[in-house]
Amino acid sequence: MSRFHGRLTFFDEARQGSPVMPAKNNMGAANPSRHCYIESYGCQMNFNDSEIVASILSNHGFGITPNLQQADLILINTCAIREKAEQNIRKRLTEFRSLKKQRPDLLVGILGCMAERLKAKLLEEEKLVDLVVGPDAYRSLPALIAEAETGQKAVNVLLSREETYADISPVRLNSNGVTAFVSIMRGCNNMCTFCVVPFTRGRERSRDPQSIVRECQELFDQGYREVTLLGQNVDSYYWIDTHTNQATTFAQLLEKVAQISPYLRVRFSTSHPKDITDEVLFTMARYPNICKYIHLPVQSGSTRILQLMNRTYTREGYLKKVQRIREILPDCGLSTDIIAGFCTETEEDHQLTLSLMDICQYDMAYMFMYSERPGTLAARRYHDDVPPEVKKRRLNEIIEKERQWAWENMRQEIGKIRTVLIEGPSKRSDEDLCGRTDQNKMVVFPKKNFRKGQYVQVRITGCTAATLLGEVLEPAAEMV
Ligand code: 5AD
Ligand code: SF4
Repeated sequence: MSRFHGRLTFFDEARQGSPVMPAKNNMGAANPSRHCYIESYGCQMNFNDSEIVASILSNHGFGITPNLQQADLILINTCAIREKAEQNIRKRLTEFRSLKKQRPDLLVGILGCMAERLKAKLLEEEKLVDLVVGPDAYRSLPALIAEAETGQKAVNVLLSREETYADISPVRLNSNGVTAFVSIMRGCNNMCTFCVVPFTRGRERSRDPQSIVRECQELFDQGYREVTLLGQNVDSYYWIDTHTNQATTFAQLLEKVAQISPYLRVRFSTSHPKDITDEVLFTMARYPNICKYIHLPVQSGSTRILQLMNRTYTREGYLKKVQRIREILPDCGLSTDIIAGFCTETEEDHQLTLSLMDICQYDMAYMFMYSERPGTLAARRYHDDVPPEVKKRRLNEIIEKERQWAWENMRQEIGKIRTVLIEGPSKRSDEDLCGRTDQNKMVVFPKKNFRKGQYVQVRITGCTAATLLGEVLEPAAEMV
C-alpha cells in the first residue's frame, strides 16, 4: 500500500513549499452556503478517498475550504495502521472538540479506517464526533450529515463487496496539476497477520477498467502528465466483463492506461511479492511511459518471520522476484516496507533482514516498529514479545542500512542524463524547479524558462540525501 504517512491537510505547506489552491473548478459547489474542511492521514489511497468525499459533498451544495475557521463541517479521514497514527488523530479530535465549544453548530465527522475500526465508540462512549463513516459508506455522507444536524447519531460503517466509487470523479485536492492518484481497486484479501486493513477496508474488489481509463484520459486532457494507479495489492487486479466474458489483468490495465498517450507517465502502487508477474514486468519494459519503479514490501528478511506474518513467500522467493526485476528492468528503482520487532523476532532474524537489504540495495524504504493492532490475527495468536527498546534499536539499524544504500544509489546517479517531469517550484527556492525521474527520484534544477508539466532532459550534477541536483540539457518537450 502506498503511502504518504503523516498528516497532510488540504493546504499542505510543508510538502508543497507554498499553499497550493485546487484547480478553480475544484472548489466544490458554486456559491455554496456551507463549507467543509477535510484533513487526511495515512496512505495515498486515503488521500484519494478524501478527493472522492470532496466530490460527493460538492454535488450536495458544499464548498471545500482550506480554512478551518470557515468550516461548517470538519471531516478527518483517518488511518488505523499503527497505534501512533490513532493517537495523533485522537489529539486532533480533542482540538476540534474545543472549537465546537465555541461554535456549537459545527459538525465534526470521522471517516476512514479508524472510523471503521472503532465504529460508534467514538460517538457514544467518547463523544468526540458527530458522524462516523467507514470507507465504503461515503455515498451516504449527505444523508448522515442531515441526520447529525438534527442531533441524531449518524453512523454508517457497513463494508461492501461492490463499492468502488467508479462513477465518481474525484475533486483534486492539494493538486500540483501535473500528478494525480487513481484508485483501481479497494480492500484486501491477503491476511497478513499484523495488518488491520482487511478489517477496515473489507474484501478486495476491482474497479471497471473503462472507468479507470476514462478518468486517466480526463486527467490527461486537463493537463495532468502522471497518474499513479492505487490498490492495496495491484497485481491481483482482475475484472471480468459480464457481457463479453473478457478478463482484464493488471498488466492489461497498465497497458491500456499507458496507451492513452506517450506523454502520460504511469506509476502504480503497491505490488505484492507473491503476485507480481513477469507479464507486468514485460509490459513495463515495452512502454517507455510506464515508470521504472516498483514498491515491493518485504516486511522481513527471515523466512520464519515471513511465515508468521502469513506473507506466503520465503526470503529466497522474494530475492528471486527482485532478481527477475533486475533482469527484465535493469534500471528499475526499488523500494520496500520493513517491520522491526515482529512477534518472536530474534537477533538472527533481524540480521537476515539487514543482509537482505544489502542484497536488494533499495532506493528507499518505509520502516516501522511492529505495533500490535487489536483484532488482527497476530494480536489473537502471538505474543508481542520483543521489548520496545529492542524494537527501537533494530529499527535504527534498519534505518541506518537504508540510508547507506539510498545515499549510494543517489551518488550513482551523478553524471547520468534523466528525463524529468516538472512538477513545480522547488521547496527551497523560487528560482528552481523540481520533478521526478522515471525511477522516482526528486531532481532540483534552475528554473530558466521551463514550466511545470514539461518533460526535460536533466544531467545530474550532484545530490543531497533525498534530492538530486541537475541542469537541463535540451529544450523541453512540449506538452502534447
Ligand atoms: N505494525 C507496524 N507496521 C505495520 N504495517 C502494517 N501493519 C503494521 C503494524 N501492525 C506496515 C507494513 C505495511 C505498511 C503499509 O505499514 O510494512 O506494508
Ligand atoms: Fe491506508 Fe487504512 Fe491502511 Fe492506514 S489503515 S494505511 S489509511 S488502508
